[in-house]
Amino acid sequence: MKFFLDTANVEEIRKALRTGLVDGITTNPSLVAKAGRSYRDVLNEICDLVNGPISAEVLSVDAADMVVEAENLAGIHPNIVIKIPMTQDGLIAANALVRQNIPVNMTLIFSPLQALICGKIGVDYVSPFIGRLDDIAHTGMDLVADILTIYENYGFDTEVIVASVRHPVHVVEAARLGAHIATLPAAVFDRLALHPLTDLGMEKFLSDAAKIPRE
Ligand code: E4P
Repeated sequence: MKFFLDTANVEEIRKALRTGLVDGITTNPSLVAKAGRSYRDVLNEICDLVNGPISAEVLSVDAADMVVEAENLAGIHPNIVIKIPMTQDGLIAANALVRQNIPVNMTLIFSPLQALICGKIGVDYVSPFIGRLDDIAHTGMDLVADILTIYENYGFDTEVIVASVRHPVHVVEAARLGAHIATLPAAVFDRLALHPLTDLGMEKFLSDAAKIPRE
């Protein structure tokens, strides 16, 4: 299973990279707005740091504009993957980009049918938003299961990025289903290694270690 970090915060990326667990980065306009810097500056810096796919989202809404914007973003670095929103225009733009061999991550996926048509046009990634479905009393992880079944049925190569992850249980469930990738906010990423029994165990070892006679 691959882990992407879902952030436009370069300090969070530097810190997480030290674990050796980060396979790529996803950003979106909300995350870049939070970082308070220009999209291009942030992307340049991330591309210098990370050796893996880096998703950059188009801000245009019209298909032709999306394609032009995507071509510019793709020129920043070979690792850039273009994030396209799952709209009618987005579908047309994604199809054009796939034909140009520009990697595409289709975002804002909320239904199996949306994922099916993305697989059919051959995008590299789809991003189902699990947490946002849970928020409206749907079971987000059911969508991931449906997409994986559909892609298996038709032998699609599109990889599933479990997105809008809110807590570590989402990561466990995604792994159980065999999702290719989970993209994690730093708050979730930082909790992957934690367990209260590990902390208690360490406390006991350290207090006992203090009793061992020094040579
Ligand atoms: C990732 O590609 C998405 O942009 C992100 O996971 C959305 O998460 P949110 O629902 O917490 O904003």
